[in-house]
Amino acid sequence: MTEIVPLARPSITAEDRQAVMQVLSSGRLSGGPRTLAFERRLASACGVAGAAAVSSGTAGLMLALEACKIGPGDEVITTPFTFVATTSAIRQLGATAVLADIDPDCWNIDPARIVEAITPGTRAVLPVHVFGRPADMTAIREIARDHDLRVIEDACEALGSRNGGQACGSMGDAAVFGFYPNKVVTSGEGGAVTSDDPAILEWCRRQRNHGRLPGSAAGGPVPGHNFRISELQAALAESQLKRLPKLVKRRQQLAGEYARRLSEHEDLRLPAAEPRGTTVAWFAYVVRLADRFDAQARDRIRKRMLDLGVETGHYFPAVHRLPSSEGPGIRVHDTTTHAEALADRVIALPFFHDLDDDQMDRVTEALLSSISQEKLR
Ligand SMILES: Cc1ncc(COP(=O)(O)O)c(C=O)c1O
Repeated sequence: MTEIVPLARPSITAEDRQAVMQVLSSGRLSGGPRTLAFERRLASACGVAGAAAVSSGTAGLMLALEACKIGPGDEVITTPFTFVATTSAIRQLGATAVLADIDPDCWNIDPARIVEAITPGTRAVLPVHVFGRPADMTAIREIARDHDLRVIEDACEALGSRNGGQACGSMGDAAVFGFYPNKVVTSGEGGAVTSDDPAILEWCRRQRNHGRLPGSAAGGPVPGHNFRISELQAALAESQLKRLPKLVKRRQQLAGEYARRLSEHEDLRLPAAEPRGTTVAWFAYVVRLADRFDAQARDRIRKRMLDLGVETGHYFPAVHRLPSSEGPGIRVHDTTTHAEALADRVIALPFFHDLDDDQMDRVTEALLSSISQEKLR
């Protein structure tokens, strides 16, 4: 049987393995030099003062929001087209995620919709750099300045992305990265908060470890978490981070290859090309079906692709339509028409460092033949 083409697969080199083995040999598996080295390297890659490594992107989002004093009764404006963790983190703190619609061309939150969603309860904006494409941070920062709001970037999918001279992860009060295995850089599980603000960094470093900074057993006055990262994870992520430019370049090549193979197809809307002056560190390659296809058609196309040995993903269902969104702490501002139309039609194609030409041929053939089948129904 032909091997399945997976949706994602981490790139692990001999150096990565060695870095992890060295930690095992050292006997120090948590709270040690690899975590500090990883934080320094990440901060330098983003051009910020510091980073606090944590156990996941979700943990990072919670800490960053807490550090910005977001709590019960506060509203945080974010996008409906994101991974559920973005809104879960807001809701876990007792705050409300207010969803403002996306720009249908770039798939990121539309700054004009943010302005409309502001109320006296709004405290922060949480833009997501979806699939590695930088959100319009110039406009968002201006809105935040005018309305006295904090800005927390969800940069979980955007390590290595840049807008002009600035890295994603350096354009808000705080930013959050995630290092799950489908990301450009992985630590297995893991995350980090980056910031120029010493108070935010200190909060994250304290609260990831029950309010305790190294050397202090008592901790602070507020209950904290165990959101620590292990030395094994930090060593893997640091080793991968050393080759970030290479990892990003390969992703850009792969995105270019998909675009070349699929651009003539009338039933597909491809992700927008990288705007001038922008680096997209493609986290995923996600295509949108034409309007004539609905969510059921998309699911059938995905199923046919799987039957042909090609795994795909549904990035993302619109968050407000998920079962967990039926509870409190989430509200749609006005309409989210663009996000819903997109969410119903997206298909994430296999996308990873070692994806080869033959695999890409299989993916594109499976996609196009599955669409043709759908049209015959
Ligand atoms: C946009 C976005 N936000 C948050 C997260 C949460 O990260 P984690 O899975 O590491 O908790 C992810 C990760 O997959 C993500 O893609």
